[in-house]
Amino acid sequence: MKFPAEPFKIKVVERIKTTTRKTREKLLKEAGFNIFDIPAEAIYVDLLTDSGTAAMSDNQWAGLMIGDESYAGSKNYYRLEKTVREVTGYEFVIPTHQGRVAENLLFSTVCKSGMIVPNNTHFDTTRANVKANGAKAMDLPIAQALDPALDYPFKGNMDVKALDKLLERDRSKVPMVTCTVTNNSAGGQPVSMQNIREISDVCKRWKVPFFLDCARFAENCYFIRERESGYDKKSVKEIALEMFSYADGCWMSAKKDALVNIGGFLAMNDGELASLLKQKLILIEGFPTYGGLAGRDLEAVARGLIEGLDEDYLHYRTAQVKYLGESLDRGGVPVVKPIGGHAVFIDALTFAPHIPQSQFPGQALIVNMYREAGIRGVEIGSLMFAEKDPDTGEAHYPDLELVRLAIPRRVYTTMHMHYVAESILKIFHEREKMRGFELIYEAPVLRHFTCRLKEL
Ligand code: F0G
Repeated sequence: MKFPAEPFKIKVVERIKTTTRKTREKLLKEAGFNIFDIPAEAIYVDLLTDSGTAAMSDNQWAGLMIGDESYAGSKNYYRLEKTVREVTGYEFVIPTHQGRVAENLLFSTVCKSGMIVPNNTHFDTTRANVKANGAKAMDLPIAQALDPALDYPFKGNMDVKALDKLLERDRSKVPMVTCTVTNNSAGGQPVSMQNIREISDVCKRWKVPFFLDCARFAENCYFIRERESGYDKKSVKEIALEMFSYADGCWMSAKKDALVNIGGFLAMNDGELASLLKQKLILIEGFPTYGGLAGRDLEAVARGLIEGLDEDYLHYRTAQVKYLGESLDRGGVPVVKPIGGHAVFIDALTFAPHIPQSQFPGQALIVNMYREAGIRGVEIGSLMFAEKDPDTGEAHYPDLELVRLAIPRRVYTTMHMHYVAESILKIFHEREKMRGFELIYEAPVLRHFTCRLKEL
């Protein structure tokens, strides 16, 4: 079946409210047209993020009840350690309360001023943690990743030739090579096993450690099985184990593919590095057998990791995202192709060509999605990324102007996706009515979170 029905029954439900257009209009004005300032209760379908928004299973909720809250040596830690070893093959497991803490621990340990950390594409918090430690975060996506309309099966890949060249020139400056699976900032696109193998070969040749940012590793491995030759008879679990075997370690925001609301970890084979990280962990997160989490949370992560690899679930999960993407595509809405693992990305420049980048076309779509239908997405374009030249004050705009519709896991039914598609198609058909925006307040850093705008 192309679009399988949900492989679960619903045991507990959470009421979501519809609001009137008048209320939404008022809330938008009060929020200065900043979608982060709209109370979540006034949102009907919230596609702001797929992170920490999953519905846990009955099995995970049952696991919470056997949380062992001992300060040291909780049984749930040992269960998590065993599960992470089983899934990744790495020996040392360090829990953290979310992904960015793992990044903070890792990069504050391996980076020094003037260093360079390559990645296929850094996620924002990864980039920020590399930069905060004086190093440069270098993105090496393949050229195909920059063309939103191009259908290519592994658009998340890294440009391995560019990596090799970088190491030839600057080996001494590179403390570690990293790769994000799936590549969130490049449209949630997967990385192929062949690409991971090639990155690994280059890293071995130059003797550089290789780590995976594996927040969405299960979705990535499912795509390998679907799209890469030689993998269609393997289980997703086997594929994951092979993928991890090419790297020296990983960090994970468990809030994605481990189907929990909070949690993360680092795992690796280098015992010396693990011991340095654990010392820091005690300083900022807690004792190494809980790392900023309650024992019950560790249990939920352990159970979620296994559930996240379930193939019926992954089939439904990726198909649901595809259902939304294809519904929009069929109606003519320009979406990033192929449809990624956790989100549908709309190309806002093509959606509303009459709005210049200086007037935030992505944000215009975000505002209209909320105004028309109570749907929340996130702008990943000029509002988030445009940079002003410090000397001339001239603005530099990003290549892509995207709107991300991230789908929480096991939360919305496919009928909700149908509702989202119909609502966006309606906006698309009347798109010449959309107007641009002007900034009336912006903070010096990460302005999209707190800015205020005026509709032109
Ligand atoms: N790495 C990737 C690839 C991510 O997508 C995220 C978070 C992180 C690391 C950081 O993890 O949030 O647990 O601290 N992504 C979320 C998103 C926030 O909306 O894409 P965290």
